[in-house]
Amino acid sequence: MPSYVVAGASRGLGLEFVEQLAKPGNIVFAMARNPSQSKGLQALSKKPEVHILKADITDPVGLRAAAAEVAKVTGGSLDVLINNAAYVSKKYEFLQIDEFATEQELIDDFKLSFDTNVLGPVLTTNAFLPLLRKGHVKKVLTLSTGIADAPFVLKAEYAYSPAYCVSKTGVEMANVKYAIKYKKEGFVFLAISPGVVNTAEEPAAPEIIPKLQEMAAAFQKVAPHFKGPIEPNESVSAMLSVLDRATIKDSGSFVSHLGTREWL
Ligand SMILES: NC(=O)c1ccc[n+]([C@@H]2O[C@H](COP(=O)([O-])OP(=O)(O)OC[C@H]3O[C@@H](n4cnc5c(N)ncnc54)[C@H](OP(=O)(O)O)[C@@H]3O)[C@@H](O)[C@H]2O)c1
Repeated sequence: MPSYVVAGASRGLGLEFVEQLAKPGNIVFAMARNPSQSKGLQALSKKPEVHILKADITDPVGLRAAAAEVAKVTGGSLDVLINNAAYVSKKYEFLQIDEFATEQELIDDFKLSFDTNVLGPVLTTNAFLPLLRKGHVKKVLTLSTGIADAPFVLKAEYAYSPAYCVSKTGVEMANVKYAIKYKKEGFVFLAISPGVVNTAEEPAAPEIIPKLQEMAAAFQKVAPHFKGPIEPNESVSAMLSVLDRATIKDSGSFVSHLGTREWL
């Protein structure tokens, strides 16, 4: 029975991963920092395949406790870890690198981005590695983004979301470090971009719409076929198919939901 941990399972792509993986024959551990506040997760917890874990990915003690919970159910192993959780600031998303109102705001956004988007997946991976080493599948999927690919960003001339983009570039290198260390043990560490996906829980505020249009125009410079966001079910089923096909020779790579370096 393959076992999965999905980090950041309260909403968006994380919730969709749980939904798609919760089928007979799988064991799915849906991890969230506030599971009781997620209606979607509460509904999915009724499925026999789903187990709920409470942990913040920046808290190593909580992560170790979550790993101990998993071990109790599986007998000490885990097959697949999905590092999906991330922080994207709504307040600073459409600022450029020198446009923060104060240096303190820039510092806070960069630190929270680093803590959540780089250290978070590293701490989560380290907490679950002892279990993953005893698993049969040995795969770790970490969500990054096409706007952390420097050639794409340069070509699109996309200057927004500096802290987020820098942090996602950082987690790609963490993925490489794990791939090198665990190659001999047959692990596959994959960084993946989900595409541009509509995970918003509310319609965009009117003042954001011109920014979203600007973003779409920037992306169309690189990918003229880009029409707008895809839905979570399409993105997640594509990512799971890439994960399924990935072999040891892919370990350490950073690809899109299409399984290539085409981000859109
Ligand atoms: N959507 C896109 O177009 C897109 C594009 C490129 C990359 N991505 C990447 O895909 C992943 C999922 O994106 P999304 O759009 O689904 O994001 P989202 O809707 O913003 O959801 C983020 C998830 O991360 C969780 N989270 C944040 N900080 C956490 C922490 N410290 N501990 C535990 N959980 C934490 C959130 O939990 P709470 O509910 O508790 O806040 C939530 O479940 C992210 O890694 C994102 O960077 C998304």
